[in-house]
Amino acid sequence: MASPAGTSPADNPTPSRASIAPRTLRTDRWWLQPLLTTLGLATFVVYATVRSFMRTDYWAAEHHYLTPFYSPCLSDSCVAGSSHFGTPIGELPAFIPLAFLSLPFLLGFRLTCYYYRKAYYRSIWMAPPACAVGEPHERYTGETRLPLILQNVHRYFFYVALVITLINTYDAILAFGGENGFGIGLGNVILLLNVVLLWCYTLSCHSCRHVTGGRLKHFSRNPVRYRIWTQVSKLNTRHMEFAWLTLGTLVLTDLYVWLVSSGAIADLRFIN
Ligand code: FES
Repeated sequence: MASPAGTSPADNPTPSRASIAPRTLRTDRWWLQPLLTTLGLATFVVYATVRSFMRTDYWAAEHHYLTPFYSPCLSDSCVAGSSHFGTPIGELPAFIPLAFLSLPFLLGFRLTCYYYRKAYYRSIWMAPPACAVGEPHERYTGETRLPLILQNVHRYFFYVALVITLINTYDAILAFGGENGFGIGLGNVILLLNVVLLWCYTLSCHSCRHVTGGRLKHFSRNPVRYRIWTQVSKLNTRHMEFAWLTLGTLVLTDLYVWLVSSGAIADLRFIN
C-alpha cells in the first residue's frame, strides 16, 4: 500500500524531530509514571546510603542475621561474628562503608542494568520522558560516547553480581544456625525470600541471556545451552518486576535485621 504523500522514508532521507510547538499534545497524566519511578529510585538510594554508613545494627548476633548491605564484612571494624569470610582488611575509617568491596559493584550492576537505564533515562534524564512528549535535550547521541558508552561494562558487573549473590545465599544459609543451634524465624524467611528474588533478578539479566545462548549459530547442536537459554529467557520477560521487587526485599531485609539487632522488636520464631 502506498504511503500518504510526504510520509515515506524516501521523502525524508535525514529524519529529524517534528516541529510541534507544545511539548506534548497528550492530555492524560503521562508524568505520573516518571514521577513514581523517580520517587522509588530516590527512596532506595537515600535509604541504602544512610544505612551503609551507619555501621550499627547490621548483625543480629542471637540469630546470625546479617543484612546484605554489610556483606561481605571483611574488616576489623566489623562486629564480632559478622565476618563470614574472615577479616583480611584492617580497621576502616568511618567514611568508608564496611561493605565497600561489594557496594560499588552492586551499584554498578544496577546503574547499568538495561531496565534501570530505561527507567532513569525516562524519569530523571527525561530522554524522552514519555511517548509523544518532547524532551528538553537538544541533541541525542545515545550511548555512543562518554560517559554513557561506559554502560557497556554491564556484562562484567554481572559476573561480580553472581559472586555477591552467592555470598548473600551463604549468609542466608548460615542464619539457620543461631546461637542456640538450628532454628527458623521470620528473619530466615525474609533473608531467604530476598536471595531467591536476587537470583531471579541476576539470572534474568540480559547479559546472562547472552552468556547462556548468545553467539550460537545452531541451537540444535547445543541442546544444553539452548535449554538454559530458554529458561533464562522466560525469567528475562519479568526482569523489570524483579528489579523493583529486589529493591523492596533488600530494604525489607535490612530493616528487619536493623529492628531485631537494635532490640526494637523480637524475631518471630517458628522453630526454636
Ligand atoms: Fe538488568 Fe542485567 S539487564 S541486571
